[in-house]
Amino acid sequence: MRKKIVAGNWKMNTTISEGELLVNQILTLKKESQPEAELIVAPPFTHLATISKLLQGSGVALSSQNCADELSGAYTGEVSASMLNAVGCEYVILGHSERREYYGETSAKLVKKVKLSLANNLTPIFCIGEKLEEREANKHFEVVEEQIKEVLFGLDPEDFAKIVIAYEPVWAIGTGKTATSAQAQEIHKYIREVLAGKFGELAQNTPILYGGSCKPSNAAEIFAQPDVDGGLIGGASLVAADFIAIAKAF
Ligand code: 13P
Repeated sequence: MRKKIVAGNWKMNTTISEGELLVNQILTLKKESQPEAELIVAPPFTHLATISKLLQGSGVALSSQNCADELSGAYTGEVSASMLNAVGCEYVILGHSERREYYGETSAKLVKKVKLSLANNLTPIFCIGEKLEEREANKHFEVVEEQIKEVLFGLDPEDFAKIVIAYEPVWAIGTGKTATSAQAQEIHKYIREVLAGKFGELAQNTPILYGGSCKPSNAAEIFAQPDVDGGLIGGASLVAADFIAIAKAF
């Protein structure tokens, strides 16, 4: 049985007090409804220390939204994997399309980030996904395959076994336009085949999350697909009731 995961990527939203309120609401609703999926929240860096304390003993895991591609030293403005581990993060989102698009995140940088994360006991939630023009040109399979090969194929099997994948088609992020459940299943299955081609049976245990305008009204249908193991949620993760409703959609 693969792990079921619902992760909230808050992106650059909430002040610290809004973030504390949101987490407390999530924890209250979680207690009431006991969703079966593992819950993860990924607030901004400034909130991690505070939210880490609020999450202690709650069963909700903490993630950052990025980490540095170096371990320590003169890298102004960066936050390292070891710092994130020390503050209580268990996960790190890497390679989100917004980072690839706006901050020059390349596969070469991601190779370093994935390795540093694993070496510091952080589980990478490795994001892949095609742009609209790539989908329209029917190139989505080769795009995700490239993204996987360039970053994950260099891992040894022991490290690969720890990876979580998030498939997020760029045209579905924040647009209100979701992939259909059939589109999600088709490409999630393909992603698993690509992983299996390199890592064999281990790929059967890799959680592959869907992300892109996932909300309470469409989560159940998407999560019902055999190769969809949960979601990476943006906008809807900022409303506690929606986030928990999505977590209960399995
Ligand atoms: P939305 O759920 O807001 O479309 O964002 C998805 C996403 O990018 C999660 O990482």
